[in-house]
Amino acid sequence: MPLFNVYPLYDVTPVSGKGVYVYDENGTEYLDLYGGHAVISIGHSHPKYVKAISKQVEALGFYSNAIQNPLQVKLANKLEALSGCKDYELFLCNSGAEANENALKLASFKTGKSRVVAFKNGFHGRTSAAVAATDNPNIVAPINAQQKVTILELNDIAGVQAELEKGDVCAVIVEFIQGIGGLDQGTAEFFEKVDTLCKANNTFFIADEVQSGYGRSGKFFAYQHYNVTPDVIAMAKGMGNGFPIGGILIHPNIEAKFGMLGTTFGGNHLACAAGISVLEVIEDQKLMENAKVMSEYFVKIAKTIPHIKKIKGKGLMLGLEFDFEVGDLRKRLIYDNHIFTGGASNKKLLRILPPLTVRKEHINMFYEALIEALPEVEAAEELQTQNI
Ligand SMILES: Cc1ncc(COP(=O)(O)O)c(C=O)c1O
Repeated sequence: MPLFNVYPLYDVTPVSGKGVYVYDENGTEYLDLYGGHAVISIGHSHPKYVKAISKQVEALGFYSNAIQNPLQVKLANKLEALSGCKDYELFLCNSGAEANENALKLASFKTGKSRVVAFKNGFHGRTSAAVAATDNPNIVAPINAQQKVTILELNDIAGVQAELEKGDVCAVIVEFIQGIGGLDQGTAEFFEKVDTLCKANNTFFIADEVQSGYGRSGKFFAYQHYNVTPDVIAMAKGMGNGFPIGGILIHPNIEAKFGMLGTTFGGNHLACAAGISVLEVIEDQKLMENAKVMSEYFVKIAKTIPHIKKIKGKGLMLGLEFDFEVGDLRKRLIYDNHIFTGGASNKKLLRILPPLTVRKEHINMFYEALIEALPEVEAAEELQTQNI
């Protein structure tokens, strides 16, 4: 049976991983500066993580949300302590889209309204309301297009104010650092004004931290770089280091009601064991601090390379914008240098999303390969242009 062909694939087959490296079937080592799309937070096959999941699956892998599950409580308490989101409540699900879908649904339930304000180049997942709030018409099917969504430019505070004052907006959803859209960020003034406007207009402020959360920005959540208080915070990628787990943190002012949200698999025993061990490793190995320090090192070197026109993002969620399209460069880095990096909708942007355990030696390896590749890439680009 063929696989439904929706992904353009690189010709690489990782079969194992350790720390910041993955290995293919021939034992070739690849430096992973992509983290499987910002998912690998504590490094591949971290021994504590492997042990925690293995022990849990031997004991009890799954039971439904109809019974007591102390692992969910342990995860919630650990998350509160590490994130500093005091008194927020946790609802667990399985992915980023689901986290945003539940956040938007909760906003609509609680405000009695249904329109969403989202932003240009934003990405929130592929389910019903989440995809409608995503600024990419190619992935919005007619069935999703029935949702009421208004997409505004990032930093358009007058636009946000005008929409919220119409009285029918249940939520403003934002990535504090955009992911696939290209690492753009709103200004502090913008985020803080949106927060105030949401509070004044009975509108939820939803922080989509699916990619930027879990220490990646150097703080636990990217919104914590600003003076804002989101009503709901959506999380996923780094939360399980590859084990599918997502969740939302819900402000204490928002009251739960039986049956309001629900899921079969969300918060299962195995997912919680993965999630708890991720938090323990982030804390024990001081990975938020490492993200900050490694980011500074990464950016300092990037500033010395003339081909890099802009450096975007925060922490270990970085984008290097070159003066040429980076498709060939990414291929060269993978096939010749065995280094994974990420792309974005902005074709000139190379995304760097390594495990938060990355060290200076790995960053040096990347720059050595990059500097070696740059003149060749430039020559190839020139030839292509001449052919056109
Ligand atoms: C900011 C953001 N939100 C939501 C999602 C959707 O997450 P998932 O693919 O787990 O559904 C993603 C995935 O890339 C994301 O980057």
